[in-house]
Amino acid sequence: MALFRRGAKAGEAPSENLPRHIAIIMDGNGRWAKKRGLPRTAGHAAGAETFRRVATYCKDIGIEYLTVYAFSTENWKRPKEEIDAIMSLLEQYLGESIEKMERDGIRLRFLGDTSILSPRLRGLIRETDAITEHIKGFQANVCLNYGGRDELLRAARLWAEKVRDGAENTPDEAEFSSLLWSAGLPDPELLIRPGGELRLSNFLLWQCAYAEFYFTDTLWPDFDARELDRAIEAYQKRQRRFGGL
Ligand code: FPP
Repeated sequence: MALFRRGAKAGEAPSENLPRHIAIIMDGNGRWAKKRGLPRTAGHAAGAETFRRVATYCKDIGIEYLTVYAFSTENWKRPKEEIDAIMSLLEQYLGESIEKMERDGIRLRFLGDTSILSPRLRGLIRETDAITEHIKGFQANVCLNYGGRDELLRAARLWAEKVRDGAENTPDEAEFSSLLWSAGLPDPELLIRPGGELRLSNFLLWQCAYAEFYFTDTLWPDFDARELDRAIEAYQKRQRRFGGL
């Protein structure tokens, strides 16, 4: 039976057996905008607001890590105008967040190859990393120019370099994990995909090996604390066996 605690903004959030780490594929921004006769970029702006609210809610109810898929290695195929809009939303978000991270106790990390992003965005990411270093508490991870296959290939290449430099052993799971963008993070126990699609879309392929999946038709900009509660309740009812009985 799920147990609830009052006080969080949505009203009732399950408080026992909470996942430590929730991953979310923020899908449905474009359709949300289209339904309202707005440009797709308005959907992304609404999606960025949803991210803010959901991250705050996760922190309030005691989730330790939230990881969101903001921009994939495949998203470069989108029209330049849409890519630019997503990048400027990220710049705006970081510009506003940097000053508040310490006060709000929110650590921010970026997973993915950020080396090809704009100098301004890279500068903001460096500033954010420096602040995140010395604060404790809830951590939001934003996957940016991230792809699960790309991450695995990169780790394999890094290991090959170690071998070339004289490493003799083969990596175990822990060593291999330490070469992923997600090094140091626990695996997500719960993966949520709003927007009605039932696929992983190259997100956290290694890390989600034993994640519980929760799919909902709700479009990401409409996703709220109540919906997150529902996902957590569904997770709490699952029997996790990790291949055992
Ligand atoms: C998927 O919806 C969404 C994206 C590819 C972009 C997500 C980006 C943001 C929410 C903005 C920036 C984020 C932060 C963390 C501030 P879609 O466009 O594929 O939707 P559709 O399937 O309805 O077309």
